[in-house]
Order: sequence, then C-alpha cells, then structure tokens
Amino acid sequence: MGSPSAQPEIVSEHADVFERGETVADWDADYYHPIAERLYDKQVARMLERLRVPPGGPVTDAGCGPGVHAIRAAKLGHRVEALDLSHTMLGEAQRRADAAGVADKITFRQTDLTTLDIPDASRRHVFSWGVVIHIPDAEAALSNLARIIAPGGRLALHLTNSTAFDHTLERWGRFAVRKPLELEQRDLGPGCWYEMNDERLWVWRFDLDAVAAFLARRGLTLRHRWTAECSEIQRRVNGPVRSALLRVNNAAAAMGVPARCSATNLLVFERTA
Ligand SMILES: C[S@@+](CC[C@H](N)C(=O)[O-])C[C@H]1O[C@@H](n2cnc3c(N)ncnc32)[C@H](O)[C@@H]1O
Repeated sequence: MGSPSAQPEIVSEHADVFERGETVADWDADYYHPIAERLYDKQVARMLERLRVPPGGPVTDAGCGPGVHAIRAAKLGHRVEALDLSHTMLGEAQRRADAAGVADKITFRQTDLTTLDIPDASRRHVFSWGVVIHIPDAEAALSNLARIIAPGGRLALHLTNSTAFDHTLERWGRFAVRKPLELEQRDLGPGCWYEMNDERLWVWRFDLDAVAAFLARRGLTLRHRWTAECSEIQRRVNGPVRSALLRVNNAAAAMGVPARCSATNLLVFERTA
C-alpha cells in the first residue's frame, strides 16, 4: 500500500550500516541462496501458524529489511504492516513487493523499535526476524515489542543463540589462528561490534533463557522454540561446499535438531498477563 511513508528523519546510533546499499547486497548473498529460500518458506509458514494468524489476517513484520519475509506472508494471503528503521531497506522492500505483485497487501513505515510509536496492546500477531540481534539496546526493543502485544496475542522472534555449536567451532578456529573474538558480556548474553561496509554492526549472541525470562517479566510466556538455521557456517564458503552445507542445514531443521545447538532459533511468545 504505497511507498514508505514520509516520516521525520529517525536517527539511531547504530543505523548507518543499514542505510548502505552494499549491506542489502551482502545479506542477499549471505542468506538468500535458493536452497536456503526453501527452508525460509517452511519456517515462515510454521511461524505464522504458531503466531495463530487467521487466514488473510493481519501481521506485523518488525524490522522487515528488504522485505523477504513480509512478501512471503503477503503471498500466503496476509495483510502485512512492515516496519523498519532504514530508508534504504524500506525502499528495497517496496521495490521487491511491487515486483512480486503483493504491494497492495503490505504497508511500509519507518520506525525505530527502541522508541516504537505503536499503542500498547494494539497488535495480536507480530514477528521480528533477525532484527533485535543487531540492536545494542535490545532491552528497549524487546520491551516495546512486548508492550504492543494484546492479551492472547503472540510475538515471534528469530534470534541468535549463545549455546550454538557454531560458536564452539569458531572458538577453536580462532584459538588456532590466535585471533580470539572480543565479546562484551551483557545481561542478555554476549555480543560484539563487527565492521561491515565501513560502518559498525552490533551482533548479539543471545542467552535465550535470559531473553525468555526478560519477556516473562513483561507478561509474555514462551510457547514454542525451535531451530531456524542449524548452522551459519555456509556463509563463509562458496560453490558446491556451500550448497552441500545448506542442504545439511535444511535437513537438520526438518529433523528437529535441538534448538540449543543451533545458530538461530525461532521463539513464539504469548501474552498471558
Ligand atoms: C538483518 S536485517 C533483517 C531483515 C529482515 N527481517 C530479513 O530477515 O531479511 C536487520 C534489519 O533490522 C533493521 N533494524 C535495525 N535496527 C532497528 C531498529 N532499532 N528499529 C527498526 N528496525 C531496525 C535494519 O534496518 C535491517 O533492515
């Protein structure tokens, strides 16, 4: 439904990296390989089912980026409210929604999850995929996401996981080349700043029990937790090795590899208080 609405400029200390066109291209290359797209088709459908979005019902995508999952939801018949901090991402999402023929099902709007301008208890079905992991003030974003969920409504989060086997492998690799990662320990888990396209990008490795406890204090009960991507090592390799790793990833998710071992998890919460 129209182009990203003209809002007053929102400036956030971690925002610059998301305005770079190269960031869109890099994430496309990292995540949206055709084999991985098959996994995302299944995971998004499962997530929407567990969010209990009724057929054709409304859903909010909090941090839509270039719109890939908003478009998936729209293709499944849902009306989507797609929010993001970045003008670049919203412009790209609008372009892709137009190309996919679902622009009439999606409303795009610029907003910052850390200061979210949506009334309390006004949404029943919200997802946020790979977004809070890049927000240094995750407490503010999670509090806002919890705040807007109506009684009985549900919130799905796609988050990194500090207990993933990937991190053990990376630790060994870095130990071998004597390049330990400088992680900052915070209440919701470790995290660190990376450099990306000459800007800084914050990445959490969430302690998902701490996240669930944080949201429980805000009235949300964890209903489902499952593996999203078993491993993200595929991003570091190319060609047939990458294709093989992606197929293993898809098979692992289908077989229900325990979420605690996996690089990313999907969690669905319900407002019960
Ligand atoms: C890794 S991308 C994920 C995008 C999309 N959900 C996907 O899975 O392709 C992270 C997105 O979060 C957005 N973002 C980061 N901080 C935000 C904030 N404080 N409020 C709203 N969006 C934010 C970025 O602009 C970027 O589009």
